[in-house]
Amino acid sequence: MNEKNIIVGLDVGTTKVCTIVGLQHPNQELEIIGIGTHPSYGLKKGSVVNIDKTVRSIQASLEEARLMAGVNITGATIGIAGSHIYSFNSSGVVAIKGKEITQDDVDRVLEAARAVVIPSDRDILHVIPQEFRVDNTTGIKNPIGMCGVRLEAHVHIVTGSIPLIQNLVKCVEQTGIEAEHITLQPLASSEAVLSYEEKELGVVLVDIGGGTTDIAVWKDGSLIHSQIIPIGGNHFTNDLAVALKIPNNEAERIKINHGSVLAEQLNQSAHITVQGLSGSKPCEVQLSVVAEVLGARAEELFDVVRYMIEDKKLHDQVAGGFVLTGGGALIKGLPELGEYILMRSCKIGFPIPFGGMTNIMQNPKYSTVLGLLIEASKRKPYTPTQNKSANNHRVMFNGKDKDSNHSNSDLISKLSESLKSVFKEIF
Ligand SMILES: Nc1ncnc2c1ncn2[C@@H]1O[C@H](COP(=O)(O)OP(=O)(O)OP(=O)(O)O)[C@@H](O)[C@H]1O
Ligand SMILES: [Mg+2]
Repeated sequence: MNEKNIIVGLDVGTTKVCTIVGLQHPNQELEIIGIGTHPSYGLKKGSVVNIDKTVRSIQASLEEARLMAGVNITGATIGIAGSHIYSFNSSGVVAIKGKEITQDDVDRVLEAARAVVIPSDRDILHVIPQEFRVDNTTGIKNPIGMCGVRLEAHVHIVTGSIPLIQNLVKCVEQTGIEAEHITLQPLASSEAVLSYEEKELGVVLVDIGGGTTDIAVWKDGSLIHSQIIPIGGNHFTNDLAVALKIPNNEAERIKINHGSVLAEQLNQSAHITVQGLSGSKPCEVQLSVVAEVLGARAEELFDVVRYMIEDKKLHDQVAGGFVLTGGGALIKGLPELGEYILMRSCKIGFPIPFGGMTNIMQNPKYSTVLGLLIEASKRKPYTPTQNKSANNHRVMFNGKDKDSNHSNSDLISKLSESLKSVFKEIF
């Protein structure tokens, strides 16, 4: 098997680390040949808090995937989230040099759009084009070959804290593999779960993980907003553990096997037996009490999502409604409650099958890692050499871009260069 055609998605989540190995065929078809999952112990709210524990979890997940796939893993596309992620929209404008717009003009206008002042401890992870405008024509997805004098780009910029990005990269590289690309997790989940039509119509992807809930809002096929909310499935479990005075693992079992967020739909006399804290006896708990605890947390989460949508004035843009994914989306009654609070349709988003995906993988908790694999395959088509043009709409964390040797200081000088060029263009 040619190692060049092996691609890997690695999701270092708060509750689990998951690796999926894919084989790229000559017809560009992607086949899943290995998967490895291991509980994650070194992360909190999506960020690394213990390097050694994180490295061990990644190592175990890689090993399992390696064994199943029967190939050597040398690098992976990794996902990033955490409350340090901050995203915003920006725009840039340049004069078109020749008669027709070329790739060079597009590169220059994207450089101009990313020339924004950001704090020195943050780096740009993605510059994602939303639309181009040529003179007075708007809504252009690909301006190459068009005629005009003025090219404008509207982009979505995702930034993250440099030390926190470096911690994640360090953990991955300590396992002996290369972090080839870094992708925002909700972007990856969207890739695995959302259809082309949903992204065109306008849709909100809500990836409820263990430590965070990651949001990606799409309209006209473009990402128009992304945000990380520091509430995830673990908060539901902790609430249950505190309210019922039971150990965390027992709370997790009850949440998964008996949990619901709609107390009024339950038989009020239904009970379950729960194990108390060590030394105390098992006791009976009404299922409706469990649902009240979980329901309160779900309401809080949806209120935050609703506030975000109202604050960004996005409600009218998302006719396609809300798609809930991530393991945390599996608590019973969440779509119904979401529909009531968010006043739009709400459904569970399962990964769209491809490449021999098994039933086990068609679980919302694998949305991110499957999306990372798809992203990796788009960047690394079946050719012996890397196709750089496939990369040009996603600007990677500069320290880690495989095709460049930019350090952070290079990035700063690059930004100031592009600022200069913008000023030259305008004045
Ligand atoms: N069947 C289920 N019912 C309810 N909750 C579930 C179920 N399966 C998993 N979960 C919850 O999903 C959460 C983990 O989801 P996921 O695997 O997507 O998170 P992660 O990727 O590890 O974390 P993050 O994305 O926040 O870094 C946990 O809180 C877990 O309790
Ligand atoms: Mg996740």
